[in-house]
Amino acid sequence: MPTVEQNKSAWDGGYHWDDRGDEWSKPWGGTAMQWYGVILPRIHRFLDAGRILEIACGCGRWTQYLLPRCRSYVAVDLSAACIETCKRRFAGKAGIEYYVNDGKSLDMIADHSVDFVFSFDSLVHADKSVLQAYIGQFNRILTEDGVAFLHHSNLGRYRLRYIRSRHVKALKPVLVWLGILEDDLHWRDWSVRAEDVRQMVESAGLKCLVQETVNWRTRRTLNDCFTTLGRKSRAQEGCLSSENRDYMNEAEHLFRLSRLYTDTGR
Ligand SMILES: C[S@@+](CC[C@H](N)C(=O)[O-])C[C@H]1O[C@@H](n2cnc3c(N)ncnc32)[C@H](O)[C@@H]1O
Repeated sequence: MPTVEQNKSAWDGGYHWDDRGDEWSKPWGGTAMQWYGVILPRIHRFLDAGRILEIACGCGRWTQYLLPRCRSYVAVDLSAACIETCKRRFAGKAGIEYYVNDGKSLDMIADHSVDFVFSFDSLVHADKSVLQAYIGQFNRILTEDGVAFLHHSNLGRYRLRYIRSRHVKALKPVLVWLGILEDDLHWRDWSVRAEDVRQMVESAGLKCLVQETVNWRTRRTLNDCFTTLGRKSRAQEGCLSSENRDYMNEAEHLFRLSRLYTDTGR
C-alpha cells in the first residue's frame, strides 16, 4: 500500500494542484533549489540525454528542468489531469510526447529508445508490484548506454518496528521523542526496501550503479531510496551504496542559501 487505485484517486482529482507541486519543495527553499541542490548533483553525468522518459511527472515540477537537457522527452502519468496540465504548461515546446497510463505499462515506448528514465517524488507511493512492472520493462526500452534514476520507498525496512509498536500504543509519543518512531512517514509504501529494488533490477538483467537511502522529512528513518541503474555493460562501475542520514541537513542548508540568494520562500 498505497495501491495504484489509491494513487489515482489521490492525484487525479483528489489533490488541488494549485501550486503544481512547488509546495513540496518548501523545505529545500523552493523548486529551483531542490533541482540544483538535490537532484542535479545526483544525475548530472547522464545529462544532456538524447531521449528522456519521466515516469509520474505530475504537473511538471521537474519536467521544466529536464526539457532543455534532452532532444526529446516523454511524460507518463496515471493522472489524466496532470498530463493535461503539462500539455498546457509546455505548449509550444517541441519534441514532447504525453501518455496517461495504467500505473504500470510502458507499452507506448519503443524498444531501445530511451537514454534516461527519471522519476522523483512519485514512486515513493508505489508498491512492489508497480516498481517490478516498470523496472521489468527497462531492459526493453533503454538504449545501449541507457540509465535510470528512480526515487522509491525504503519503508519496508522498518515494517516490523512499526508493527511491533502497535502493541505499545501508549508509548508511541515517547518512541517518537526518542527518534525510534517518526511522527509522519509521508505516505511511503510499506512493502518496498532498497534491496528489493536491487533484486528487481538484477532480475530484469540490469545493474544497480548507486543506491542511496535518505531520511526524507524524517529525523532518522531512511524511509526513501534513490536507485541509479543501467545495463550490465556498466559492470566496471560496481554498485555504490550509502546511508545518508544528513539528507534533511542538506535541505536546511539549501533553505538557508535560498533566503540569501533567491526570492522564493520569502
Ligand atoms: C506526489 S506527485 C509528484 C509529481 C512530480 N513527480 C513532482 O515531484 O512534482 C505523484 C505523481 O505520481 C503519479 N503516479 C503515482 N503512481 C503512479 C504510477 N504507478 N504510475 C504513473 N504515475 C503515478 C500521480 O498521478 C502524481 O502525478
